[in-house]
Amino acid sequence: MREFKVRSVHLPAIVCLLTAMLSTSSTAQEKPSQSLATAPPSETSKYLGSETCKTCHEEIYNGWEKTPHWKTTLNTKGGPSKQGCEGCHGPGADHVAGGGDKTKIFVFEGKSRQETSARCLTCHGEAHEQSHFAQSAHSSSDVGCLDCHSPHHAKEKEFLLVQEQPQLCYGCHTSAKADFAKPYHHRVNEGLVQCVDCHNPHGTETVRQLRSLPSGDFICYKCHVDKQGPFVYEHVPVKTEGCTRCHSPHGSTNPKLLNVMPVNMLCLQCHTFSTQLTAGGPIGPAHNQSAKYQACTMCHTQIHGSNFSNVFFK
Ligand code: HEC
Ligand code: HEC
Ligand code: HEC
Ligand code: HEC
Ligand code: HEC
Ligand code: HEC
Ligand code: HEC
Ligand code: HEC
Ligand code: HEC
Ligand code: HEC
Repeated sequence: MREFKVRSVHLPAIVCLLTAMLSTSSTAQEKPSQSLATAPPSETSKYLGSETCKTCHEEIYNGWEKTPHWKTTLNTKGGPSKQGCEGCHGPGADHVAGGGDKTKIFVFEGKSRQETSARCLTCHGEAHEQSHFAQSAHSSSDVGCLDCHSPHHAKEKEFLLVQEQPQLCYGCHTSAKADFAKPYHHRVNEGLVQCVDCHNPHGTETVRQLRSLPSGDFICYKCHVDKQGPFVYEHVPVKTEGCTRCHSPHGSTNPKLLNVMPVNMLCLQCHTFSTQLTAGGPIGPAHNQSAKYQACTMCHTQIHGSNFSNVFFK
């Protein structure tokens, strides 16, 4: 893992920098955990710029230069605390003056997930995709940015991920892995659909880190547009209880990802034959349960809603 080798440290550079540093840096000690955002203005002189880091950490620099974080060096508005290596590691003057003193710079290794994620969130906290991280199931279960991302040692070309999807997720979510291995499933393993199509691993405003449409509606409608309606005749539970009342979104042993088979057993969970209407329950079918009627959706084909038939025929 470690790319830095002491023998690659350029000695004349150290001497040169040391002289420069000793004349500019104050004696005040920089607490490693000090928040970048709250660094007082006098601390700005402690930022040296990424080119300086390069003199000793060339290998790391060369790799990093090819990642999207390189762009931060162009962020003149944010100032030095938001730029380059020091955007994440904090001001480097004391570290360099100390000849590479590890205690004088923010080192990620060994820090709590809360602390490392907080570092990343100084820049990403306001971004739409990450803005709910602090309240997410991941954050509250002590999963941090570095469980999924690595700024220097990413394994994936995109998004600095430590592993490809869905394997990254399966590593911790074994029951999801089992669900997607069922005979009927959204084709996540086949690469047609991704976990992140339905979930935002950085958290959302809703349960299960589920994404929703801008309207607030179920994410399912993004791809299954024909189910959205509005219909003249809505099948009430589709709108009130949602798709998962009847479908297992990851995978199922039943066709059409149904929770229950055969289909009449699903319908009869709510449409009881009781002559007494159960409190608030829907009406039972007038027809009996002879074989002819068991395949309910043979006749009630528009089960998600219809504009023409109040009993969801074609
Ligand atoms: C986006 C934040 C970020 C930026 C920018 C960044 N680093 Fe890092 N750095 C990390 C993290 C996180 C680690 C811990 C290892 C990991 O997850 O990749 C790390 C680890 C290191 C290490 C320890 C050795 C290693 O290979 O892990 C060195 C040295 C280092 N960074 C130097 C630099 C230098 C030099 C730059 C600029 C060229 C830089 N970093 C830019 C976040 C950053
Ligand atoms: C004068 C040479 C020199 C310069 C310039 C320099 N470093 Fe270092 N740095 C070192 C040395 C030497 C070590 C290794 C210390 C050790 O392993 O005990 C080190 C270690 C680190 C580590 C900890 C690596 C680990 O093992 O976890 C980080 C992070 C780091 N440097 C970041 C930076 C950043 C950011 C800059 C630019 C602001 C920078 N360095 C500039 C010499 C330098
Ligand atoms: C559980 C895994 C996981 C965790 C934890 C995680 N990410 Fe991600 N992140 C991902 C995945 C997967 C993607 C790719 C998303 C996609 O393909 O749309 C991603 C994409 C991103 C992106 C680029 C795309 C975008 O939507 O902006 C950024 C930036 C990002 N993550 C930052 C962070 C930060 C900062 C943290 C910590 C606060 C973090 N991530 C925590 C898995 C994670
Ligand atoms: C100094 C500000 C800053 C900090 C701190 C920072 N980032 Fe970023 N990050 C950026 C910028 C800027 C981009 C590029 C956005 C773009 O391309 O539009 C970026 C992009 C990313 C991406 C997307 C990469 C891609 O391929 O699109 C990921 C993932 C990411 N950062 C994760 C992290 C993680 C993890 C940390 C903490 C270790 C972190 N960032 C810390 C500013 C920062
Ligand atoms: C480092 C382990 C780890 C990784 C990697 C990981 N997760 Fe998680 N995830 C957890 C933990 C721990 C929880 C909280 C406990 C739970 O619900 O299982 C969680 C919760 C969730 C939840 C919310 C479950 C709920 O009940 O609210 C979703 C959705 C989720 N993860 C999706 C993903 C996706 C998608 C990925 C891949 C991009 C991923 N996770 C990667 C550990 C991980
Ligand atoms: C087609 C959309 C969709 C895809 C793709 C998807 N999920 Fe889910 N996931 C859901 C829905 C909806 C729920 C909520 C189920 C419920 O509340 O009954 C959920 C629930 C979860 C939960 C909570 C526990 C559970 O099993 O109910 C976890 C963890 C999770 N998903 C992880 C993942 C992972 C990991 C992937 C990718 C391998 C993934 N999901 C892909 C829609 C999806
Ligand atoms: C990113 C797009 C996408 C999202 C979001 C999505 N689906 Fe799908 N869904 C598909 C695709 C594509 C298929 C076709 C599967 C195939 O052919 O393998 C499918 C198939 C299905 C099927 C089975 C159809 C059949 O004929 O067997 C059901 C049921 C289903 N989805 C329900 C849902 C539910 C419920 C949600 C929300 C939790 C959802 N989908 C979210 C893309 C999506
Ligand atoms: C009241 C139970 C119920 C609810 C709620 C429900 N479905 Fe279905 N869905 C079914 C049944 C039953 C079938 C199988 C129909 C058949 O056999 O032809 C089905 C089939 C499907 C299919 C595959 C066949 C087709 O018509 O394209 C998709 C896709 C689908 N549902 C998506 C959804 C989505 C998305 C939601 C939420 C908006 C949802 N369903 C809510 C019962 C339901
Ligand atoms: C989660 C409970 C639930 C499930 C499961 C369910 N329904 Fe319904 N259904 C309802 C409710 C509630 C109504 C609205 C009743 C009302 O308006 O009085 C309704 C209405 C209907 C109606 C229209 C009745 C009328 O006269 O307005 C038909 C037809 C129907 N459902 C058929 C089915 C079939 C076929 C299935 C199985 C594929 C099914 N339902 C599954 C709850 C359910
Ligand atoms: C052979 C076609 C057929 C099958 C199969 C079928 N139905 Fe029906 N269903 C009908 C007809 C016809 C009506 C009466 C429509 C009307 O009144 O306009 C009806 C009406 C209903 C109603 C509305 C209440 C009523 O009796 O008027 C419900 C609820 C219903 N069916 C549920 C079911 C369920 C649940 C199943 C499966 C167990 C099922 N149906 C199977 C043809 C069928």
